[in-house]
Amino acid sequence: MFDTWVLRRPAFFILPSIVIIVALLMSASSPALSLLSLPQILTKLKTFLPVSYFNTPTTAPLSTLSTTPSVSSTTTISQPPKMPKAPVYFFSHGGPDVQYNTTHPVYPILQSIGKEITQKVKPSAVVVFSAHWQPENVGPDEIHVNNAEKTDLIYDFYGFPPHFYKATFPSTGSPSLASHIISLLAKSNIRARGLSRGLDHGVFSGFNVAFPPASNPLAVPLVQVSLFNSENPQAHFLLGEAVQSLREQNIVIICTGMTVHNLRDMRLAFGQPQPMPYAVSFDNALKEAVEQPDAEKRKEEMARVLKRPDARQAHPWMDHLMPLYIAAGAAGGDRGRQTWTMHEASFAWAQYRFGELPEEK
Ligand SMILES: *[C@@H]1O[C@H](CO)[C@@H](O)[C@H](O)[C@H]1NC(C)=O
Repeated sequence: MFDTWVLRRPAFFILPSIVIIVALLMSASSPALSLLSLPQILTKLKTFLPVSYFNTPTTAPLSTLSTTPSVSSTTTISQPPKMPKAPVYFFSHGGPDVQYNTTHPVYPILQSIGKEITQKVKPSAVVVFSAHWQPENVGPDEIHVNNAEKTDLIYDFYGFPPHFYKATFPSTGSPSLASHIISLLAKSNIRARGLSRGLDHGVFSGFNVAFPPASNPLAVPLVQVSLFNSENPQAHFLLGEAVQSLREQNIVIICTGMTVHNLRDMRLAFGQPQPMPYAVSFDNALKEAVEQPDAEKRKEEMARVLKRPDARQAHPWMDHLMPLYIAAGAAGGDRGRQTWTMHEASFAWAQYRFGELPEEK
């Protein structure tokens, strides 16, 4: 668990700084995009991007054209059925131990959400926002997008057993989807840049449970996008809104964090699963706000939840909560539902889905 992490407090501050410096050096060594001129970038984009990323009717794939009913029919021309939008998910992902603890109650839950995604939603790609990627050394208004085709893992945790640092998670990135996301963000006046980065444990720990490579592989491109380097809920909500059109291409957006996440109180709660009072009260208040069916009201209530007296206890840092605001933004008018939760010590493990599953055929 997190125990050793918290007990070794000095390591908590010094080791992350070292890792961040190394990560920065690594990312600085691959400024691939900046070496290309704009026309080159555009050409590259066109070759990479499936047609569906641009909604230009002139380039509609032949298959769609040939199945268009002929206009000779005298009946009124009916609109084609609206493509359902892929749902948006929020995973409470737990620590790096989640993928090894098959007896933890969240384990079968994440497994079944993973199967729901691969077997019912059948996404064309997955875009993931994790609590563990806030770009460092940039202003609070810049987003980074992983545009690597081959993505390794970042073992961004300390004091765990050696085999935790050998975890794997096979995945393939998509430079074209990354570029598309950057252009969507630009349209919403969000500064974004592509770089090559590994997946952090906010992605691979939970994904190894939801999408185990052997039994339920995520066989579609996976692109990770950072949070803002801020705790601004409004900005994160707008970030989600900026990418919501991805859902129309059946791209599933997964935001990973925790609904209550207080590492400082782990020591107090040491070995006792009984929840801290705020783990229950804050998680419940959050549920009420997120499940508010009216999108405008949901936004207001989710902002109000952060002003509760228990909010800072539930999240001494807001990094694990901001992904839920991205999910709510990406949900647009679609309502959110808590599909499961558990209050455990200084944590809450709520799982959310926004939007509907496609109807079974
Ligand atoms: C697995 O999770 C359960 C529930 O939190 C906990 O009681 C148990 O100690 C965990 N096991 C390990 C090996 O961490």
